[in-house]
Amino acid sequence: MHDQRIVAGTMPKSELIYYVATSLDGFIATADGGIDWLAPFEGGTQDYGYAAFIDRIDAVVMGSATYEKCLGFGEWPYAGKRVWVLSSRDLDAVDADVTITPDEPGAVMRELEAQGLRRVWLAGGGLVAGEFRRHGLITGYIVSVIPVVLGNGIPLLGHSGDQEQLELVESRAYPDGIVQLHYRPLDPDTLSS
Ligand SMILES: NC(=O)c1ccc[n+]([C@@H]2O[C@H](COP(=O)([O-])OP(=O)(O)OC[C@H]3O[C@@H](n4cnc5c(N)ncnc54)[C@H](OP(=O)(O)O)[C@@H]3O)[C@@H](O)[C@H]2O)c1
Repeated sequence: MHDQRIVAGTMPKSELIYYVATSLDGFIATADGGIDWLAPFEGGTQDYGYAAFIDRIDAVVMGSATYEKCLGFGEWPYAGKRVWVLSSRDLDAVDADVTITPDEPGAVMRELEAQGLRRVWLAGGGLVAGEFRRHGLITGYIVSVIPVVLGNGIPLLGHSGDQEQLELVESRAYPDGIVQLHYRPLDPDTLSS
C-alpha cells in the first residue's frame, strides 16, 4: 500500500477566490440577510463572467448562513461541485457532494489541497470570508460592485485581521452600472522594492 502521508510544506497551495457581489457601501446582504437588491441584475443575458468562472472551479467553500440561504432557493445552485460548509452545528448535507465541517479555515484548505482541488471559490458570507482572510488564505478577489447603497447590512469581510495591500488585476465596467474588480494580495517583495 502506498504511503499517503503528506510531508509538511510540499502540498501545492490551492487558489482561493472570493467571488462576490457587494453594494457600493460594502454590504453583501441587508442586515436581515436579504439579497433582493441583486435581483434586477440576475437572469438576464449578461452573466458578468459567472459561467466562465464556475467552469474552472473545483470546489466551493461557504459559511453556514450562506448555505442556509441557498437552501431556500429551491434548486441547489452548486449541483455537480464539491462544497464545504463551515459550521459548528450538525446540519444536513443537501447532497452527497456537500461536506459540513466544524474545521477552521486552514484545516479546510489543507483538506482541499490533499484532495487535489486547486481552484476554490470562497462563496461567502462576510463572516467566513473575513476568517479566511485573517488566516492569509485568500489568493484573489472578484468583487462585483452593484450600483446601490444599502446603508446597513452584512459586511463584505468580517472585521478581523491585519491591514493588507492589494493589487488590481483587472476591472470591467458593465453598461448597467456594475463594476467588477479583480484584486490579489500584493506580493510583500513588490511592496519593499
Ligand atoms: N452578495 C453576495 O454575493 C453574497 C455572497 C454570499 C453570501 N451572501 C449573503 O450573506 C449572508 C450570510 O453571510 P454571513 O456573513 O452572515 O454568514 P456566513 O459567513 O455565510 O456564515 C457564518 C456562520 O458560519 C459558521 N462558521 C463556522 N466556522 C466559522 C468560522 N471559522 N468563522 C465564522 N463563522 C463560522 C457560523 O455558524 P454556525 O457554526 O452556528 O453554523 C457562522 O455564524 C446571507 O444573507 C447570504 O445571502 C451574499
